[in-house]
Amino acid sequence: TQIISPIEDNDVEKWSIGLPKARFWDAMDITQWEGYWFGPGLLKPALTFRSSFQARDDDVILASTMKTGTTWLKSLSLCILKNHDDCKHDMLATENPHFHVPTIESALFSAKPLHFDIYDASGPRLLHTHLPYVVLPDSVKESDCKVVYLARNPKDTLISMWHFFNSFLRPDQKPFPLEKAVDCFCSGLHQYGPFSDHVAEYWLESQRRPDKILFVKYEEMKSDPKGQVSRIAEFLGRPFGEEGQVDDVLWRCSLERLKNLEVNKKGSILLNVPNTSFFRKGEVGDWKNYLTSEMEDRINQTIGLKLEVLGLIL
Ligand code: A3P
Repeated sequence: TQIISPIEDNDVEKWSIGLPKARFWDAMDITQWEGYWFGPGLLKPALTFRSSFQARDDDVILASTMKTGTTWLKSLSLCILKNHDDCKHDMLATENPHFHVPTIESALFSAKPLHFDIYDASGPRLLHTHLPYVVLPDSVKESDCKVVYLARNPKDTLISMWHFFNSFLRPDQKPFPLEKAVDCFCSGLHQYGPFSDHVAEYWLESQRRPDKILFVKYEEMKSDPKGQVSRIAEFLGRPFGEEGQVDDVLWRCSLERLKNLEVNKKGSILLNVPNTSFFRKGEVGDWKNYLTSEMEDRINQTIGLKLEVLGLIL
């Protein structure tokens, strides 16, 4: 059993007094730490994770910023890692993917108690984080555990985020104006933002250590699902063997199937967030239905350019 040093609420409050604060849309207060913005209640678990988590060599850590297809990556990795057998037991039919693969720093907000102790679970542990690379525990960076990072086109990510937060507004609340949402996104003012820094750090690290970090693009998963899912399976040391296995996993994890499962049509795995909010269209280029060409230009000229100079086109 690992020793966990709990960080007291009071200490976090005192420590964070001097950190920059802002308001994210009309939704929440956010605090900046290590160059990134964090929503309420996330700093304590992030600090606890960083100071107490001991990665093991057989851990698999999924990483992504918000609304890039995390739910899909969690489902696929679950099927891949559980040796395709548990997949046949259909874990995805009984619980939402976020239950099986908790997001470490937001496990605190889980509406259901975690069914395993992330510190003490038997291996291989499959966990997820939205945390930027810079604040990951040293042991994650230094051990042989594997990291799979999922990135997505910034304009589709923003539109997905906009729909996500709109999906659980109170009846008296109006959607946040898209124009202002674009401003916030371009200046990095959102949970786990700036988007470009989040993606860039993992991208550079994946270039430096390709055996350690696999960088996956949502768009490539959509255009070549078999190729990309096989790539993830190989990276995790669990290549598909039998004929038809990859098709089976893809079908089990498809948006259409997950969206229509009873377990995802009702209830809430994350406090105040209906499970339905995690499944929408899953299309590449949906931003074209929402953004004006001026908004498109602004995102291209800020986030797009920053990534392009690193050789990354999303
Ligand atoms: P859209 O809002 O563009 O439809 P996250 O899981 O990181 O919160 O990201 C949510 C986005 O991933 C949503 O995008 C959602 O529809 C899409 N998504 C969820 N499950 C998916 C799946 N099984 N396959 C493809 N896309 C999926």
